[in-house]
Amino acid sequence: MSGTSLDGVDGVLVEFGGGTEAGRVFADASAPLPEPLRALLLDLQQPGPDELHRAAQAGAALADVYAAVVEQLLERSGTAPSQVAAIGAHGQTVRHMPPGHPRLGPHEAPYTLQLLAPARLAEATGIAVVADFRSRDIAAGGQGAPLVPAFHRAAFGLPGMAVGVVNIGGIANLTALCADGALRGFDTGPGNVLLDGWCARHTGARYDAGGAWGRQGRVVPALLAELLADPYFGRTGARSTGRDHFNLAWLDERLARHPGLRPVDVQATLAALTVDSIARAVEGVPWGTPAGTGPQRLWVCGGGAHNRALLDGLAQRLPATTVGTTAELGWPVQWVEAAAFAWLAHQTLLGQPGNATEVTGARGPRILGAIYLA
Ligand SMILES: Nc1ncnc2c1ncn2[C@@H]1O[C@H](COP(=O)(O)OP(=O)(O)O)[C@@H](O)[C@H]1O
Ligand SMILES: [Mg+2]
Repeated sequence: MSGTSLDGVDGVLVEFGGGTEAGRVFADASAPLPEPLRALLLDLQQPGPDELHRAAQAGAALADVYAAVVEQLLERSGTAPSQVAAIGAHGQTVRHMPPGHPRLGPHEAPYTLQLLAPARLAEATGIAVVADFRSRDIAAGGQGAPLVPAFHRAAFGLPGMAVGVVNIGGIANLTALCADGALRGFDTGPGNVLLDGWCARHTGARYDAGGAWGRQGRVVPALLAELLADPYFGRTGARSTGRDHFNLAWLDERLARHPGLRPVDVQATLAALTVDSIARAVEGVPWGTPAGTGPQRLWVCGGGAHNRALLDGLAQRLPATTVGTTAELGWPVQWVEAAAFAWLAHQTLLGQPGNATEVTGARGPRILGAIYLA
């Protein structure tokens, strides 16, 4: 898995069968994105010259990082390539234009694009690769995202209980496992993407470790209100967003109306934005629990779970809900999204659907992805 944070690639080796529907993780490994590749992928988020060539180069370079992560997994677990059924490889999203996207013309086709060279990855590892998970759901009229809720249900669902799972990556997404069995999922808005960008600009560090810097600042209520006024936070139902919307240019435009703020107070306000937008999303879900109580549990995963300001903020904003990280359940926070794509690849190999139509809005369940045989 490589997500919107553009921090690196996370991998897990998972075995399915043996009674656990979500699978059992045997080994984990991560690799940072080399700086030139990170810069190239960041650049490709916006239209620019010679995109096809640059995209092909980025996809190949990313496949090499994925291959290095796979090699680490095999080494750490003493596994031979021939023992691995497939690599579920998400690739790097550079465009996501699902049906109804505001920048799609009336006669333009919806699409989503995750850069990766799956053939190169299969060749480097000698293992089959399942890739391009999102396109089929979009072809079937869905949003192509989020795809993780079905896995979250398999891993964290408890019959009769209302459980939320929030993944705080660059963008944050919420999965709602409602008490009546209903499944919902959508992006709540920025997770770490603004926090990371602002922190890098003012401290040089790529992220605010533990949230320590931002916790020295004070939330600026007028700025927070202005940020929350973005129409995305008012939307309900199936919705997804990305770096193309929430980025430093978006922040700078709003900051221009609040001159003279201390950078540390802006960081504190950005943490409050992530917390508040997640909390509002949680409050907006019909959990099937007594009015006003929300879900019984909210499990946080993704790199943002390491940020105390976010975790403490969520616990404070949602007093009727027990907030914790998936690590408490034996799922270290960086495993969850990677394990979801192993699960999705497994579904594909079984010839079973991976999309939850109630989440993506697709016309029907679909077998996702393309298989590059070993
Ligand atoms: N120790 C930490 N303290 C605070 N934030 C962290 C820490 N470790 C990781 N993060 C945050 O998590 C992000 C990476 O999370 P990840 O789940 O990989 O997101 P994505 O799926 O978008 O790549 C980093 O960019 C950073 O913002
Ligand atoms: Mg990441």
